[in-house]
Amino acid sequence: LENGLLRTPPMGWLAWERFRCNIDCDEDPENCISERLFMEMADRLAQDGWRDLGYVYLNIDDCWIGGRDAEGRLVPDSKRFPHGIGFLADYAHSLGLKLGIYEDMGNLTCMGYPGTTLDKVDLDAQTFASWKVDMLKLDGCFSTSEERALGYPKMAAALNATGRPIAFSCSWPAYEGGLPPKVNYSLLADICNLWRNYDDMQDSWRDVLSILDWFVKHQDILQPVAGPGRWNDPDMLLVGNFGLSFEQARSQMALWTILAAPLFMSTDLRTISPQNMDILQNPLMIKINQDPLGIQGRRILKEKSHIEVFKRPLSGEASALVFFSRRTDMPYHYHSSLSQLNYTGSKMYEVSASAFPGGLCWGAARSPMASLSWELWGLWRVPVGQLQALRAEAGAIFQ
Ligand code: GLA
Repeated sequence: LENGLLRTPPMGWLAWERFRCNIDCDEDPENCISERLFMEMADRLAQDGWRDLGYVYLNIDDCWIGGRDAEGRLVPDSKRFPHGIGFLADYAHSLGLKLGIYEDMGNLTCMGYPGTTLDKVDLDAQTFASWKVDMLKLDGCFSTSEERALGYPKMAAALNATGRPIAFSCSWPAYEGGLPPKVNYSLLADICNLWRNYDDMQDSWRDVLSILDWFVKHQDILQPVAGPGRWNDPDMLLVGNFGLSFEQARSQMALWTILAAPLFMSTDLRTISPQNMDILQNPLMIKINQDPLGIQGRRILKEKSHIEVFKRPLSGEASALVFFSRRTDMPYHYHSSLSQLNYTGSKMYEVSASAFPGGLCWGAARSPMASLSWELWGLWRVPVGQLQALRAEAGAIFQ
């Protein structure tokens, strides 16, 4: 969507995967979906380095709605959001953050709260704008295909008509199976800044792999659609939660980075471990994810050895590589060559690196060959033109 927003994939924090629809503020006041939770996460985003790295969106998901007032306007749950959503938006803005909100293009949200229907779209867009909201995730539960086909473009127009820049996250394709002909990706790219194509992320490695596999399987369709202002969304990062090992968490971060995916964390920033914070705050990952060209990466190789290679072209004639291992036996010595990695040129250089079980190495190579200055999580630097140096370094680390 050419509304000037999200020229690089959005980064921020989204409540859903970690905090779900916990509305029990009596028993669990620290973790229930409430003003307090969002203010505490806003404080963490601002104070713990997140905001300055680009994690600026603070996004409310389902279960905030209390109902509609006498004029039909949406109102938040008055016990859990006593000062209203406008207050939260002001608070976020005062800290240099942006506030995102959630609604559903149907009778009810997925958790059964009032949705927006075709007759309410304009009013709801105006309400969000009056609260100074900066992003809307519009879900698709409890609606028909026909209602969605009318409702999503209608909401895009209604948001535009408010005059407030509001990024638009559409769950539409996920409800139509994610693929043409039911999904019209060029229409989506015209009306939405990002869209959920596929299943929800749950807190497990199996979910990461099944979502990844779907995106790879359909990369010929999905990859060309993404670009500045319009992103495929494979759903939230699990880093910092309960389902992934350390290497799996790094893998998700690297893969989402190379796929130019939105980086929405959904974890408790009040208690996140330093190791998980390091993964999410890795400057190289963020730099690659936020590359201004906005080209989504692709899987370029799938080896019998269960090593997969992903590549993403970057600005300045650079490119990023992820060497992703699904092996579960031992660190594996993987050999490749520049030509196998689609680095064409007059010379061939052999590149050799290792991958961890269930983990990965990643690299960023500048092409044509210039010296590479990026430190890759201490794993390897790729002076592509200087094979000896690479070997020595990889050897020192991996053997
Ligand atoms: C759907 C969405 C999720 C989340 C929930 C909330 O399942 O895909 O991301 O928003 O609804 O109920």
